[in-house]
Amino acid sequence: MTQNLQRRRILLGAAAAGAALTLNPSLASAASPRFTIGENDFLLDGKPLQIRCGEIHFARVPREYWGHRLKAIKAMGLNAVCAYLFWNYHEWREGKFQWEGQRDAVEFCKLAQAEGLWVILRPGPYACAEWEMGGLPWWLLKAPGDKFLRTRAPEYVNPARRWLSEVGRVLGPMQVTHGGPILMVQVENEYGFFGEDLEYMRVMRKALLDGGFDVPLFQCNPTNAVAKTHIPELFSVANFGSDPATGFKALDSVQKGPRMCGEYYSGWFDTWGAPHRRGDNARAIQDIDAMLNANGSFSLYMAHGGTTFGLWGGCDRPFRPDTTSYDYDAPISEAGWLGAKFRTYRDCLAKHLQAGEQLSPAPDKLPVMAIPAFPLSETAPVFANLPAQGIDDVSPRNIEQYDISRGLVAYSIKLPAGPAGTLEAANARDLAWVYMDGRMVGTMDTRYRRFSVNVPARSKETTIDILLYTIARVNFGAEVHDRKGLHGPVTFKTKGGAAQELTGWRIRAIDFDADGVLPPLRWQAARASGPAFWRGSFQASQSADTFLDMSGWGQGIVWINGRCLGRYWSIGPTQTMYLPGPWIKAGRNEVVVLDLTGPRVSRIAGLTAPVLDELHPERDLKRPPSTARPRLAGLTPVHSGQFASGPATQDVKFEHAARGRQLCIEVVDTFDGKPHAAIAELALLDAAGQPLNQTAWTIAYASSEESRKEDGGALNAINGQATDYWHTAYSNGAAPAGPARLIIDLGGATEISGLRYTPRQGPEGVTGRIRRYRIFVGDKLVEG
Ligand code: GLA
Repeated sequence: MTQNLQRRRILLGAAAAGAALTLNPSLASAASPRFTIGENDFLLDGKPLQIRCGEIHFARVPREYWGHRLKAIKAMGLNAVCAYLFWNYHEWREGKFQWEGQRDAVEFCKLAQAEGLWVILRPGPYACAEWEMGGLPWWLLKAPGDKFLRTRAPEYVNPARRWLSEVGRVLGPMQVTHGGPILMVQVENEYGFFGEDLEYMRVMRKALLDGGFDVPLFQCNPTNAVAKTHIPELFSVANFGSDPATGFKALDSVQKGPRMCGEYYSGWFDTWGAPHRRGDNARAIQDIDAMLNANGSFSLYMAHGGTTFGLWGGCDRPFRPDTTSYDYDAPISEAGWLGAKFRTYRDCLAKHLQAGEQLSPAPDKLPVMAIPAFPLSETAPVFANLPAQGIDDVSPRNIEQYDISRGLVAYSIKLPAGPAGTLEAANARDLAWVYMDGRMVGTMDTRYRRFSVNVPARSKETTIDILLYTIARVNFGAEVHDRKGLHGPVTFKTKGGAAQELTGWRIRAIDFDADGVLPPLRWQAARASGPAFWRGSFQASQSADTFLDMSGWGQGIVWINGRCLGRYWSIGPTQTMYLPGPWIKAGRNEVVVLDLTGPRVSRIAGLTAPVLDELHPERDLKRPPSTARPRLAGLTPVHSGQFASGPATQDVKFEHAARGRQLCIEVVDTFDGKPHAAIAELALLDAAGQPLNQTAWTIAYASSEESRKEDGGALNAINGQATDYWHTAYSNGAAPAGPARLIIDLGGATEISGLRYTPRQGPEGVTGRIRRYRIFVGDKLVEG
């Protein structure tokens, strides 16, 4: 009862807001700008406005709760929200735009306005945001090449312009100049991390102007890239998670105007298989205080992260898929809970309200319920439920070529009788299970660039079926050109023999499309082994929030009453799935689970709290244990040097270019004299001083990695993001034995002329900044 009243209040809030906000078109006039950027301040109707903004993505919050979350943001002491638009969410199929229901950006803006919040719109075309392909639509990848996204190439610019013009049509009327809440619009996103072509930024800016935007346009970049990416036509803001003084200084060096942090990180996102991340609350409050005292503005990334429902999760580079929970350790939790962290932010912001402002009361906590464990006893094995119709091809190509957007793809071929051998694909994105006459013989796993499988001897012709599962397209860096599927040629090689290309494939796919559409399935009342859909139901007498416990399952996708809830993977760190109350019906609720490896227990319970930080590496796909040891004895370093102190990125040119497949950085000492080393980013440079493509890189060896107190995983050093870092292990108490070493495998012999090192960011004296170091290059620096 209470729950129903609660829900009704939220819905009424939404309806009332819509009614109050009917726009008067006669007010729409670009001649009365209302919001401008002055020499020291943002100005609203000529008066200084300090922007205290918080990021929220409406796609990551159930529509029924938009009002609740916006109320919480307002109550925290913020006066604006930042909102990305994800292009692919609105145009998953080329030319077909969707703005209804969960995608109703106009309604979201109206609700924000009703709560007294301004809106800063970030329509891309590229967003990043741990979202599938950074918000770019997959169908762009039907064009060839791996350098055209986010450039002026017509195959990218034309559809991007069309998107921005559509954004203008739909959201132009929501600008402050037309009576709406949108104050500013962002062009692209952190382009400085990606490219050098400032003309591209001008083209994107023009597309927004052509789309009818008449409010100030701006760009955001990490502190390090502000200067190189600034153009006078766009206002610049800086993104950082620490050290506001350096961020604001970077802005002062390029423009005269108010200083704003475009993304201040309250926490960080999680990836499958890596420890749960937490933000440093005390430091955040200190930094926010400092920014506001310096008359600065900021946007908190995230104020409320929410959940990446459906199949919209992104993937960090080189390949680390993001978890479905986007809790982000933000002050407003995934389920909208307001705890100690929220109160700390609220107390801090309360001190910075402008004249006439008052803190509004926090909204009530939404009801939560447990669901007793229920069985999923019907199954539909994947192989028995593939479509009858297939595609025949000589050699497998990326799925975009077949107009398949994402999902499950089975590749089948006959292999004649013969001795054992190795089957190898050129690439397999993302995971694939290889079967011989229905028996699993191995897996391919793009995380480790493992694309080959041993196939046993056969006394007769056998069928090879490769079941491929796409997880997410990379959302960051050049790797956004992330074409899915099995890529040919696929070869078979027997011991001592030559590799033979296998040709004549049959390809059958279940395309989950934009919203995780389930195909018609033939159910059976028996358990299944191997990849299968599972079905069960639970009864509910109320519809309150709950957290589905997926810890007894393997890996896959969950649907509730036909709606795709998201992906799970019991390796963690997330073990539960947030199921919002409004998506639960009174009475029978049907749950379907796709599990690719098979559950340990085919039951699910609803818990009253999430489990976000439990890793279970033992539940991962099997892979050979690592016995890697560095093999550097007797080698001469190709370079020895000393980095400058401080957080700035530094380029180093080697005396002579070196060629090899692997590169080792060995730490000789650090600035703080402690035995620990950290690296935020390590890029390698070609003869022209340009970073080498990192798409094929893996970590061949790391002397140690912190994995308990924080995520100090070595991949953080090559994921292109300066905010996280590789850190040698410290929570085990022991000082590391021997020098800190990181060995990167480049995927093939490469000429290396230098390196670009980004130290761990943060204030002076932060642990791990490297002073003296040595570099080795060779084809095999690791043994075992
Ligand atoms: C960058 C991007 C955001 C998001 C964060 C990490 O700053 O601009 O979209 O990806 O990193 O959460």
